[in-house]
Amino acid sequence: MKPINVGLLGIGTVGGGTWTVLTRNQEEITRRAGRPIRITAVADRNLELARTLTDGQVKLTDDAFSLVKDPDIDIIIELIGGYTTARELVLQAIENGKHVVTANKALLAVHGNEIFAAAQKKGVMVAFEAAVAGGIPIIKALREGLSANRIQWIAGIINGTTNFILSEMRDKGLSFNAVLNEAQKLGYAEADPTFDIEGIDAAHKATLMASIAFGIPIQFDKAHIEGISKLDAVDIKYAEQLGYRIKLLGIAKRQEKGVELRVHPTLIPEKRLIANVEGAMNAVLVWGDAVGATLYYGKGAGAEPTASAVIADLVDVTRLHTADPQHRVPHLAFQPGQMSDLPILPMSAVETAYYLRLRALDKPGVLADVTRILADLNISIDAMMQKEPEEGEDRTDVVILTHVARECDVDAAITKIEALDSITGKVTRIRMEELKG
Ligand code: HSE
Repeated sequence: MKPINVGLLGIGTVGGGTWTVLTRNQEEITRRAGRPIRITAVADRNLELARTLTDGQVKLTDDAFSLVKDPDIDIIIELIGGYTTARELVLQAIENGKHVVTANKALLAVHGNEIFAAAQKKGVMVAFEAAVAGGIPIIKALREGLSANRIQWIAGIINGTTNFILSEMRDKGLSFNAVLNEAQKLGYAEADPTFDIEGIDAAHKATLMASIAFGIPIQFDKAHIEGISKLDAVDIKYAEQLGYRIKLLGIAKRQEKGVELRVHPTLIPEKRLIANVEGAMNAVLVWGDAVGATLYYGKGAGAEPTASAVIADLVDVTRLHTADPQHRVPHLAFQPGQMSDLPILPMSAVETAYYLRLRALDKPGVLADVTRILADLNISIDAMMQKEPEEGEDRTDVVILTHVARECDVDAAITKIEALDSITGKVTRIRMEELKG
C-alpha cells in the first residue's frame, strides 16, 4: 500500500529516537498501521547532525516552514518545543490540511484550545500522547480505555527530574541544592531547570490530563503551581518517620462545584505503590467510578520511550486519517460541542489533609494554644509528633497532621499560629493525599 509521508520538525533527542525506532521496527509497525510510515523530510537547524542520523536518506532543510507547506507530506511531527515558532508551525500545518503529532506539552497547555479548534475546523488530527508522561500511554488510557467511567481524580508523578531529586534527597539525606547541583553535573537536570523544579512542566501535563478526564477546556492559567525548590530535607525525614513519602504530584480532582487543578509537593502514605516510584520514573494514578484505581508506570522522558508515544500516534493517525472526522476519537476525549463549563476552583476552595511543621517553645500551654486555633477553624488533628529539643535549645519542632480541611481555613490557622509569641518563624505547610484505591 502507498506509504504515508511524514515531515519531522526537530531531530534532537526525541526526533532521533523516533527515526531509530521507526527504522528498526518498520516491518511490525507497517503490519499494525496497514501501510508503511515513512519520514520523507526532516527540518533541523543542525543539518550536519540531521544528515548523519538519517544517512542522507531524506530531504533535509533548516527551514521548518517549508515542510509544513510541502504538498507531499501527510503528517507533521513537531518536536521543536517552545510556544511561539511551534505554534506558528502547527497552525500552518493544520491550515494546509496536515495532521500533527507533537510532544509539546507547553504549547498545548497554553495554546491547545486554539490549536484543537483549528484542527477540528480543518478535519485533521493533532495527537499528543508524547506530551504527557513520555512513554506511558496515559492519553490513550484516559481518552479511550476509561471512557465508560466518571473519572473522579488523577494524581501523577509526571516530572522525572523532580522525582529523581526527591528520591536522592530521601536516600542520601541531602539538601535540594546539593542534589540539584549533582543532577546538573550528571546531565539529569537541565542547565536551566526552572520548568522542572518549579512544577511548571508537571502543571502543563496535569492541565492536559484534567481536560480530557473531565471534558473541560484547557486552563493552564488557573492551575496552582508549587515546585520543590523550597522543600527542606528535614520535612522529608519527618514525613518518613510518620510513614509518608513526599512526591511532586500533579493533581486533578473533581469536586461538586468545580475541579481542583494543582501541582505541589505532597505527602503520600508509603504503602501506596505510587509512593514507591523512584528516580526519574513517572506514574499516574487514575480513579474512575467503575474501574476504581488504575496505575500507569514507566519512563516519562528519553529518546526511545518518548519515540514510543510519538510513533503510536503516527500509527493512530495513519489508521484513522481516511475516516470521517466525526467518527474519530475527539482531541479532548469529549465531543467538542459537549464540553463542560465546570470551573477550576481557586486554591482557597481546595479540600485536602495537611502536614504542618512549627518551631515552638517547649513550655506548658503552647500546644494547647495551637490546637485551640485549629479547633476553632474546624481543622481536626490526625497525628502529632514533637521532637526532643536539641541540647541547650528551648525550642523544638512540632509536626501536626490534619484530617481533610479547607485550604482557606488552613491559611487562616497558619496566620494565627505564626502570630503566637511561642512560635518562631514560618509554619511549613505540605499537603497530603491518601490516594485510597
Ligand atoms: N523534563 C521532563 C521531566 C521530561 O523531567 O520529566 C519532559 O517532559
